Amino acid sequence: MTDTPLEIFAVAPPGLEPALLPEFRALGYKDARYGPGGVTMLGSWADVWRLNLELRGATKILARIGSFRTMSLAGLDHRADEFPWDETFYSGTTVRVEATCKRSKIYHAGAAIERVERALKKHGMKPAADGEVTLKVRIEQNIVTLSVDTSGESLHKRGHKEAVGKAPIRENMAALFLQQAGYDGAEPVLDPMCGSGTFIIEAAEIAQNLQAGRSRSFAFEVLASFDEQDYKALHRSVSVVKGPARLYGSDRDQGAIKGATSNAARAGISALCDFQCKPLAELTRPDGPAGLIIVNPPYGGRIGDKKQLFALYGTMGKVLKERFKGWRVAFVTSEPGLAKATGLPLSQGPAVPHGGLKVWLFQTPPLK
Ligand SMILES: C[S@@+](CC[C@H](N)C(=O)[O-])C[C@H]1O[C@@H](n2cnc3c(N)ncnc32)[C@H](O)[C@@H]1O
Repeated sequence: MTDTPLEIFAVAPPGLEPALLPEFRALGYKDARYGPGGVTMLGSWADVWRLNLELRGATKILARIGSFRTMSLAGLDHRADEFPWDETFYSGTTVRVEATCKRSKIYHAGAAIERVERALKKHGMKPAADGEVTLKVRIEQNIVTLSVDTSGESLHKRGHKEAVGKAPIRENMAALFLQQAGYDGAEPVLDPMCGSGTFIIEAAEIAQNLQAGRSRSFAFEVLASFDEQDYKALHRSVSVVKGPARLYGSDRDQGAIKGATSNAARAGISALCDFQCKPLAELTRPDGPAGLIIVNPPYGGRIGDKKQLFALYGTMGKVLKERFKGWRVAFVTSEPGLAKATGLPLSQGPAVPHGGLKVWLFQTPPLK
């Protein structure tokens, strides 16, 4: 292994790249920069492990292992043959190869994959569609960039959620929306349509400064650069989480509440959370200081029909205005018209693609 720093790229949901940057700053990575699709920085393999373990908003962490220029498949063949694959992969490791080609002499991704797979085989690795680790070959303007997906399964999978409700929001998007809504980890948070409890569980984990990936494994564990002892040293010990609850989730669906409760238990943060089965119309203000209400209500194209949705958003606006003075409200929806139906004083965040739709985070200042 060389000491040259690796270029590390944390993939973010499009539109939410700026919301990922504060997590890098909090980890002390001052030189990280965001751009289209994610955040980049230079670092070591230990930084790669740390980012996978800590980041809440990223989808994946890619590490660039090499880059070269070539104008032909024969050139790719040659460069791939010479490449020091054994610095990255052990002999016998199964590797999935993916490729994209843009504005390059090599325009056939399938042919590029075949060349790289052949070279890997010569070095003792085993190309396989369901490989333990994925190698991404990007060919753009005749520059070939080789990156390893060091995460494996998408990072929104924290390893705690078994119960999934209707139209759940991904954990990493929930974390980024909490960040955009200015959640500081100390204030109370309430989600009156919490489904499987994603916002509440993320908020509780942030409040406890828990490591997002503490319960899962990562693809980097099969790489030649992996050192189990050094990786273990990056884990913080999890202390017993004590109440009182300051994160409140409710939903009219009993099954959703059951699921949220067991998801919170698996994450080890039950003591901070209060889940109740009740409809929005029966929502009451918890005792104590004002905080943040964050919601992912049903929206068009997913669940519910239009007329009912306008009524639901109208009720949400009315209930929150009447009972939650001093609280801020943030909600995610795919329809600005529905947002307007709340009658709340809203600002609209950037568009974020989600489940085949575009969604926005709408936010209010503290309600008067
Ligand atoms: C899009 S899902 C929320 C998903 C959630 N963020 C998650 O990650 O699992 C919307 C939720 O709103 C709930 N809901 C719909 N109408 C409601 C109402 N009037 N009162 C309370 N909950 C309601 C549904 O039961 C559903 O769980």
